[in-house]
Amino acid sequence: MSIEQARSLAVREAINYILDAEVVGIGTGSTIDKLIKLLSDLRGSLSSKYFIASSLDTSLKLRELGLKVLDFRSIDSVDVYVDSADKVDTNLNLVKGGGAALTLEKILTYYSKFNVFVVDYSKLVNDLHNEFIPVDVLPQALTLLTRYLGRLGYEFSIRYSSKGRYGPVLSDVGGVIIDVKLPPNEDLVGFEKSIKSLPGVIEVGLFIGLTDVLIIGYEDRVERLRGRRLYSVYSSSRTA
Ligand code: A5P
Repeated sequence: MSIEQARSLAVREAINYILDAEVVGIGTGSTIDKLIKLLSDLRGSLSSKYFIASSLDTSLKLRELGLKVLDFRSIDSVDVYVDSADKVDTNLNLVKGGGAALTLEKILTYYSKFNVFVVDYSKLVNDLHNEFIPVDVLPQALTLLTRYLGRLGYEFSIRYSSKGRYGPVLSDVGGVIIDVKLPPNEDLVGFEKSIKSLPGVIEVGLFIGLTDVLIIGYEDRVERLRGRRLYSVYSSSRTA
C-alpha cells in the first residue's frame, strides 16, 4: 500500500507537464499504468493532444481511452516524454527496461524536448554498480553475443517470462532481452558504450545524463529534482 500510495502521489505531479504539451510521449510499466488511469479522468482536456507510446501495451491503453495515438514512425518531434524507471542513482542516471520496452523508451527520451521520470522512493539507489542492466539483442546474434559476453567476464541471464509465452521475453522491436550485471569497477559510460558497440545489440537500458526532471513519490510527499541533461538535441530552456 505505501509504495502504491507513493507512486500515486508522484504520477499526479507529472500531469501538468502533459497538460502543457501538444505531443506527449508515454512510457511503459506499472507506474505509468497509474498515470494512464489519471489520464482517463482528464480525457476532455486531452482531446487536442497527440500521444506516442513507448510500447504496444501503452499504445493499447491510450487508444482504449480514446486518445489520439500517433504511429511511432510518423513522429518528428516530442514535446514532453513521461516515464518511470527501475532504478535511479544520485546523479539521476536510470536503469530502464524492466518491462522490455527500453529501445523505444530510449528513443523517446533522447529525442524529446523535455522529459520527466516518475518513481517511488524504492527505486532510489546510491549507484548502479552491481545492478542488472537490460539489453535488447537481435535474436540472430543472441548465441554469439552471449558467448562473447561470457568470455569478457560479464555476468548475465537471458530473460524468460513466467507466463504467457514459452521462451525468452521479446522486446517491442523484436529483440531478446538479456540482463547484464554492471561490474563494480566499470565506469557507467564505458559500460554503455562497450555493450552498445557489440554487433547485435539494439539498445542498452542505461539512461545516463538524460533526465530533465525526476519526480520521487514518498508515502506522504513528493520531491522534484532537476537533472543535468547532458545529451539533448534541443537546448531546453524550460525550468522544473
Ligand atoms: C519498461 O521497459 C521500463 O523501463 C519501466 O519504465 C520501468 O521498468 C519501470 O517499471 P515499473 O513502473 O513497473 O516499476
